[in-house]
Amino acid sequence: MPVALRTRQLTRYYPATRSDPVRAVDSVDLELAAGEIALISGPSACGKTTLLGLIAGLDRPNDGAAELFGQSLAEMSDTALALLRRRRIGLVFQDFKLLANLSSWENVALPLVPTGMPWRARRDAACEWLERLGLAEVAERPPEQLSGGQQQRVALARALVNGPDLVLADEPTSQVDLESAQRIVAALASLSAAGKTVVITTHEPALAVHGTRRFHMVAGRLEEVR
Ligand SMILES: Nc1ncnc2c1ncn2[C@@H]1O[C@H](COP(=O)(O)OP(=O)(O)OP(=O)(O)O)[C@@H](O)[C@H]1O
Ligand SMILES: [Mg+2]
Repeated sequence: MPVALRTRQLTRYYPATRSDPVRAVDSVDLELAAGEIALISGPSACGKTTLLGLIAGLDRPNDGAAELFGQSLAEMSDTALALLRRRRIGLVFQDFKLLANLSSWENVALPLVPTGMPWRARRDAACEWLERLGLAEVAERPPEQLSGGQQQRVALARALVNGPDLVLADEPTSQVDLESAQRIVAALASLSAAGKTVVITTHEPALAVHGTRRFHMVAGRLEEVR
């Protein structure tokens, strides 16, 4: 399988000076082939969100490098990165980032707007994802009328609706119990069969799903759990 994601000594410190930095991400080497699922666990503030931001090209490293699908992110403009995200990456943000004035299905359908797909097809695609995630009954409701776990699944549906090659899911199971969490991770892991690559972060070290590569992060350092 081709390499989907590769980081080499990827490093991000805050503030971005060398005098007294917090090493949010410290010399991370991570390589995932297309179709691999990575589950990264680690305590609060260990650097999970910062790492995903660097991989998504939402943030730039102080040191080291990241490549997606064989393309070096350092060589890409912010516009090119935004286009790459839109076309090939599905992002689930830790704080969901759902739009309050849109219904659930309209939130899910947002990534389809730039594709030029007609309104009805967008609605059908969005509703299909909501149904797969057990949310058919909330399609017309705005996010504020949903529970935290439901909002989280709407955010997940929005990340998947565009058929991305790489899914970056930041604690997509933080609002649900362990059993639901296993189901969400299993649903994400099933994307492997279609050659999709998935990175999932979690606080929950007990979360284990068959067929995933497991990593642990502490103080910016990433280690594979073997
Ligand atoms: N914009 C920023 N400015 C300064 N420090 C930051 C910034 N963003 C993150 N940090 C620091 O970097 C470290 C890693 O933060 P990050 O959000 O990546 O952790 P996390 O593992 O996602 O935590 P959580 O599990 O609580 O979401 C923390 O010490 C945090 O305070
Ligand atoms: Mg985080």
